[in-house]
Amino acid sequence: MNKPEKFEPNRLTAQDMDDEVLSTYPTDAFLSKDYLQAEKTLLWPKVWQMVERETDLPNPGDWMTYDVAEESIVVLRKDDGTLRAFHNVCPHRGRQLVSVPDMLPRKVHDVRGNNRKNFICGFHGWTFDTDGNNTYILDPQDWQNKLTPEMTCLSEVQVDTWGGYIYINMDPDCVPLKEWMGRAGEILDHFELEKMRYKWRQWAIYDCNWKTAIEAFLEPYHVAGTHTQLLAYGDYYALSKQYGLHSVSSYDTREEKFQMSESAGTTRAGKGDDARVSTYELIKENYETINYAASTETLVNAASRLVDELPETATPTEIIAHWIKSAKADDAARGVIWPEVPPEIKKESGLAWGLFPNQNILHGETFALCYRVRPYGDDPNKCIFESYALERFPEGEEPETEWVYADPTGENWGSVLAQDFSNMQFVQKGMKSSGFRGPLPNPHQEQKVINLHRNLANFMEGCGAPTKLGI
Ligand code: FES
Ligand SMILES: [Fe+2]
Repeated sequence: MNKPEKFEPNRLTAQDMDDEVLSTYPTDAFLSKDYLQAEKTLLWPKVWQMVERETDLPNPGDWMTYDVAEESIVVLRKDDGTLRAFHNVCPHRGRQLVSVPDMLPRKVHDVRGNNRKNFICGFHGWTFDTDGNNTYILDPQDWQNKLTPEMTCLSEVQVDTWGGYIYINMDPDCVPLKEWMGRAGEILDHFELEKMRYKWRQWAIYDCNWKTAIEAFLEPYHVAGTHTQLLAYGDYYALSKQYGLHSVSSYDTREEKFQMSESAGTTRAGKGDDARVSTYELIKENYETINYAASTETLVNAASRLVDELPETATPTEIIAHWIKSAKADDAARGVIWPEVPPEIKKESGLAWGLFPNQNILHGETFALCYRVRPYGDDPNKCIFESYALERFPEGEEPETEWVYADPTGENWGSVLAQDFSNMQFVQKGMKSSGFRGPLPNPHQEQKVINLHRNLANFMEGCGAPTKLGI
């Protein structure tokens, strides 16, 4: 459960964030071993966290492990189609029920399989059905028949789904997932993420804290400094906004003529004299250098025709409207029907969401570029970084994908993501400098980062809470 914010006069509140009050926060959350240890009891066992796409466990008996910090969870699909989740531990002497090796050096993302009918512990053979009930103990009489079902069953974990994702929560008293997702979930529901499928999915162990990694993808304020080449066709002025636990960023513009509901996300007009050309250049550059994600082939192709299909006098609003209409028609012709997202929702949905604590989704009607980050081992300077692209495919044409270990190079990830990676370990190192006076996050463009720390502090007994700068 999210604890209420303690009253501390200088502590940043949600209202302060809306008012864009200047703030800072300590670096313990990134650097401290004690903080990392505290996350194991105060954070990870208390939050809803995404495990995997539902489509990875389509059939009865499909199962997989999900590990975070020192917790290991087994999720499986039962014969009736429902999902169950248990702590991956035998109640006898504590052997893992399913052996999960360290992720490195063998690059094991998780352990999974099919046709699971029961769990048999490899140590002394205690056996459990798919509801977690104990069905076999060798020599139970030795316990003088005093063992009860409650003592010998598996420890259950809450499991639910949203947007085509499987989520777990280890806290039996947690709020329902729907409540946890709140308005963020309601807005993203319009994009029908559950109808998208993996296009690619990659992971690696990185040399930075999990928060340093996720924050590299939370705000577009870094685009001008990190992805300088992208400025040729578009401006990257951004806004961001807290939605309680979660938060959103949008492209923003100082120019009134570009203010339209579409301009908040990736389907927006390019800058310059001829927006027919720059809109195409902008989306093509984005698509090709973000590893063929954050847009689709259909959108890029439709944008390439703008210069032929529209007069030079077309306004940015007309260009976007025409582009979206023709991409939608092209997709419909191949069996990909776009969800109807009302304009006001499209505008509110912005560019990308940070879902507390460790999930990012940059969404469109037919695609999503997503990230998930977890701690790795007991080292605050390491994390498990995962990124994946979702797309809405014609039925039967979904590609077969699996988790691929990919070192952080431009070849593996595209040049834009490699540019992001090039900052992460040096942010982690730089924050250790005795000359670093503490972060100065942008109150307009980097609220998602600030909001992450505000919410973390609510779980972490106040540790790391953003405070107002006394200016
Ligand atoms: S530890 Fe599992 S049966 Fe003994
Ligand atoms: Fe970036």
